[in-house]
Amino acid sequence: MSKKTLLVTGASGQLGRLVLDELLTQTDAAQIIATTRNPESLADYAAKGVNVRFADFDQPESLAAAFAGATRLLLISTDAVGARVESHRRAIEAATAAGVKHVIYTSWPQAEQSPALVAPDHAATEKIIHDSGLGYTILRNNLYTENLIGSLKGALASGVLANASGGGQAAYVTRLDCARAAAGALLLDSLENRTLDVSGPEAYSNADVARIASELLGKQIQSLDLDDAAYKQALTGAGLPEFVADLLLSFEQAIRQGDAANVSTAVQDLSSQTPIDLPDFLKAHLAEIQN
Ligand SMILES: NC(=O)c1ccc[n+]([C@@H]2O[C@H](COP(=O)([O-])OP(=O)(O)OC[C@H]3O[C@@H](n4cnc5c(N)ncnc54)[C@H](OP(=O)(O)O)[C@@H]3O)[C@@H](O)[C@H]2O)c1
Repeated sequence: MSKKTLLVTGASGQLGRLVLDELLTQTDAAQIIATTRNPESLADYAAKGVNVRFADFDQPESLAAAFAGATRLLLISTDAVGARVESHRRAIEAATAAGVKHVIYTSWPQAEQSPALVAPDHAATEKIIHDSGLGYTILRNNLYTENLIGSLKGALASGVLANASGGGQAAYVTRLDCARAAAGALLLDSLENRTLDVSGPEAYSNADVARIASELLGKQIQSLDLDDAAYKQALTGAGLPEFVADLLLSFEQAIRQGDAANVSTAVQDLSSQTPIDLPDFLKAHLAEIQN
């Protein structure tokens, strides 16, 4: 087996740390490079032997040294929605120049046609990867199950889970399972090019989420399906900034048109672990929802 050096970008983010944790359970720390804009925040991983380096996609001069020696690289999409394609392009160019063989990228389901406001950046980044000639695994992560904690907090207070998803379903996936899938893709020897939906084990509508949460919380929560304008009004009325309301509305539209409904076996296939189902996740996070 050839010697692999596995690199995780954005390693100090929530997903990045979970990927490092997964890798450390399966491989030698000396085989892992973690890049971040904040190396000091990964001192605990450096102490375990992980090679922590500075990298900022918006400081291209930082990337050659940061990526040197990597053979497989996980490019975690940045959080600069609408303004990250050039950042990702620099990272992909630097990975190519550094001799990386295979890039793994965290994308979004149905990236090319999804109304989700995050989708155009992902579609553009996927195209840059395809055009780069690098081997690739595109991981199209579904909505994080964690996103439901905030909406269920509000629903618990009001008794209403407002949405605009028109009965559509989402196969929510936990960050931990996304991290397990990403770590698994890094650890593989394969250079096969693949684009995979990464999902939880089942898809749920907002009515399902309301029913499950009602049972777990012991309080009746009704799913309230609104039209787009009323949903946005409900969000801005609750004090959310307009751009956040637009983003959340676009996720509802994506769910409504079925973009997030596909249940895949990617987590199981890549990590040999069964993904966490939504009821079990909510059960484990009841205190957070209630606080
Ligand atoms: N599917 C979903 O529901 C969902 C939800 C939220 C986010 N996401 C996407 O998944 C990604 C990871 O999620 P998360 O929960 O870990 O988000 P997060 O904790 O907010 O992490 C943001 C990430 O962006 C990186 N980053 C930002 N600017 C960068 C730059 N100039 N150069 C290099 N890296 C940069 C950060 O790296 P450092 O700080 O270490 O440099 C960090 O890894 C997000 O960035 C977003 O694209 C998906």
